[in-house]
Amino acid sequence: MPVIPVKTPSASYNVTIAAGLLQTLESRLKKLNPGKPLRVFVVTSPEIWGLWHKSFLASFKEAPTVLFLPAGERHKRLASVESLAEQLSHSGADRDSILIAFGGGVIGDITGFLAAIYMRGIRYVQVPTTLLAQVDSSIGGKTGVNLATGKNLIGSFHHPQAVFADTNVLATLPAAQLRAGLQESLKAGVIYDARLFRYMEQNAEAILAGDPASLTRVVSASVRVKADVVSKDEKESGLRMILNFGHTIGHAIEAATNYKQLLHGEAIAWGMIAALNVASARGTFSAKEADRVTNLILRYGPIPAFKATAKNLVALTARDKKNRSGIRSFVLPTAIGTTEIVRDVTEPELTAATESMLSLMHRQTTPTKKRKS
Ligand SMILES: NC(=O)c1ccc[n+]([C@@H]2O[C@H](COP(=O)([O-])OP(=O)(O)OC[C@H]3O[C@@H](n4cnc5c(N)ncnc54)[C@H](O)[C@@H]3O)[C@@H](O)[C@H]2O)c1
Repeated sequence: MPVIPVKTPSASYNVTIAAGLLQTLESRLKKLNPGKPLRVFVVTSPEIWGLWHKSFLASFKEAPTVLFLPAGERHKRLASVESLAEQLSHSGADRDSILIAFGGGVIGDITGFLAAIYMRGIRYVQVPTTLLAQVDSSIGGKTGVNLATGKNLIGSFHHPQAVFADTNVLATLPAAQLRAGLQESLKAGVIYDARLFRYMEQNAEAILAGDPASLTRVVSASVRVKADVVSKDEKESGLRMILNFGHTIGHAIEAATNYKQLLHGEAIAWGMIAALNVASARGTFSAKEADRVTNLILRYGPIPAFKATAKNLVALTARDKKNRSGIRSFVLPTAIGTTEIVRDVTEPELTAATESMLSLMHRQTTPTKKRKS
């Protein structure tokens, strides 16, 4: 069973990945908190609980208190945190209580933030149920909620005590969610782990079909990338920025489509293609390799098309939270598995790269309907 350590100056914990972990949670929590009575509060959504509560409850002698939050990014707001905190308080949660975030990235980010501020900070555990949450959002301690003006603008760093990623739960994940999460794994391969990239290239069919062994391997390798990067740079002062590969244009696409049309991983997929265009136009990444990566990104699609102009998208990158003093930081691959961070990508360069991504999109796909968030 892969157990991957995360070791940062402020916290050390393990990410455990295996099929069937849900049924073993209570003993794992006891091991993490020896000698203390367990007072467990679960934050989840009605859909996830409906699908998985039997497995989740299997190991608990005394059923934990369950707090529900409706699914969807639009509930990732301070109001949800306040309402959950009130419920915790009414249910008698104290500083020794433990929260479990049982859901995708939205539940994970909200629960982590709730744990960071409830009674000035309590312990929590991540039990991620989407692929994106298993390979990315549950690890690294970034928690928070959105403001009307932008995503994740309020939050804090608060690491979980542990992450338990049960790959069985991916079986009920909608196919588009699985593919969007796989784009995050491709990102991990391109920026840090050429072996993971090759594995995803050579085993695309099995992975896309949801073969449990192949998925466990992809999840483990992707977690290793995130855990390693976060361990080396907890607060994103250097290396951790490489995790933002594809995010400059990806975030602009999400903003241009009001966060409703594409899943996060899908927007990042187009963003990675735009970034690859910048790198190959500069000659810092070979055009042949850029095509190879682009083709694999498309293979893990279909990635929905959207309506926006290159000018509009580039204008939106000026609002990127990652900009420092108005200068864009850009993550560009130099080879599969390694990247560089550059700060001199000009507007015309970015516009040209975005235009060529958009023309590829028009050749590949047809626009999809608006998705509910
Ligand atoms: N903290 C971080 O470091 C970090 C990193 C990346 C993304 N994020 C955040 O993650 C969020 C996106 O997370 P997400 O993609 O997991 O979306 P999500 O949490 O909205 O989940 C997507 C949908 O899948 C459903 N679902 C979840 N698990 C399921 C399962 N096993 N079976 C069936 N349905 C299931 C959910 O109910 C929801 O409708 C964003 O808010 C983003 O900002 C955070």
